[in-house]
Amino acid sequence: MKEQKERIYKETKEKNYSDLINQTFNFPQEGFKVTDNELSFNDIPLMDIIKQYGTPLKITYLPKIGQQIQKAKKLFNVAMAKVDYKGKYFYCYCTKSSHFSFITDEVLKNDVHIETSSAFDIPIIKEQFKKKHLSKDTYIICNGYKRPLYQQNIVELINEGFNVIPVLDHKKEIDYYQKHIKVPKTKLGIRISTEEEPSFLFYSSRLGIRHTDILSYYKEKIKDNPKFELKLLHFFINTGIKDTIYYWTELIKCMNIYLELKKICPTLDSLNIGGGMPIRNSLGFEYDYEYMIEEIVEQIKSFCTQNEIDEPNIFTEFGSYTVGESGATLYSIIDQKQQNDRETWYMIDSSFITTLPDTWGINQRFILLAVNHWDKPFQNVNLGGLTCDSMDYYNSEAHTNQVFLPKISDDEKQPLYIGFFHTGAYQESLAGYGGTQHCLIPAPKHILVDRDEKGEITTRLFAKEQSYKSMLKILGY
Ligand SMILES: Cc1ncc(COP(=O)(O)O)c(C=O)c1O
Repeated sequence: MKEQKERIYKETKEKNYSDLINQTFNFPQEGFKVTDNELSFNDIPLMDIIKQYGTPLKITYLPKIGQQIQKAKKLFNVAMAKVDYKGKYFYCYCTKSSHFSFITDEVLKNDVHIETSSAFDIPIIKEQFKKKHLSKDTYIICNGYKRPLYQQNIVELINEGFNVIPVLDHKKEIDYYQKHIKVPKTKLGIRISTEEEPSFLFYSSRLGIRHTDILSYYKEKIKDNPKFELKLLHFFINTGIKDTIYYWTELIKCMNIYLELKKICPTLDSLNIGGGMPIRNSLGFEYDYEYMIEEIVEQIKSFCTQNEIDEPNIFTEFGSYTVGESGATLYSIIDQKQQNDRETWYMIDSSFITTLPDTWGINQRFILLAVNHWDKPFQNVNLGGLTCDSMDYYNSEAHTNQVFLPKISDDEKQPLYIGFFHTGAYQESLAGYGGTQHCLIPAPKHILVDRDEKGEITTRLFAKEQSYKSMLKILGY
């Protein structure tokens, strides 16, 4: 028994980081591969990139964006064909998840539509129109609670002939359009205020119009109004598109509202099911995209057949799904601190709060992997950021409450580099890209990785590491 224990202990001890990952996950897997103990991401050898650009570093792998869009379009179209669905599918990109020009440029190569959420999104639409990346046929779905400038910009687009659908978020929103829109038959949408998941501290979403008010609102404000036609009903399930009773119940509830409206509103022909398509945030992530999409299409189809109405066109507004998996964030481990007998801190050369704010704000987990030293033994560590905030740390992953990384000695020739993957959505919008941040940690360098006609990797620097001058300017020095 003792011998056996010792053997197991020895075997465990001798395992290296590579064994750990290979035995814990199905590895290698899509986008991740290890050669000579170094990691590549979508076949980009990350050590080459680090040698060229250094860390901390943000990477956007542009081809992933088109791949994601084409995958969803195909799955929806196949699901629709399978059940002989009469409506069409419209893929919209929601700009709020990443507003960068290189993102919207890439997105718009894929024959998609756009969802906006801010007054300042509209000049982006105009820029992209000038560059002929979108046309006046592209749907511009305008969501969100709209202040006067946003409404003014929306009206401008409508009066200039763009294909805009303002989605009414509250009852008074229509008044501005009534007064300022100069063209007839402007298409409108209505957002249904959904009920939140039972675990939430409140019952109903603050966004949208109460479902009990929608019918009377339509009759009063839109039905006989020559300026408008109601085209779309929108709902967004905060917790995402998941195979849960809650999701399916909300979907059917919205279909019931659609049905009631459809009986008195012949122009209504579209359902916008929002965003929330999950992405891989762990190597153990299991999500059957094909099943979920088929199930959504099938449920809507059978609801419509039972109730003898035409199937609606389906709009989605995928943000994270479109851009999340294109992003990676790389750091160096600059120091190890043994703060007591059990806790080892690996200090990164930046901050989680400022570069991956979701890890701090909503406890978001991303795929975390060592970039090099895969042949070294592993140990349990806490990762610490450089700000003085005690919450600037990362110490658990989606699949476990711990973080394991290669164990390195202080005199190692090459430092340990680590990568957080699928970080392409929301992190810059939340952190306030290029602003002044906690402890004046600068925004990292950002590079764009693409492939040329021969499929060879190309890299280009989008932004240098933020300079002290830019911060001092913001601060009024
Ligand atoms: C109305 C609406 N549509 C789309 C999205 C995008 O969600 P996701 O990034 O999860 O796809 C959001 C996110 O907050 C939203 O509020």
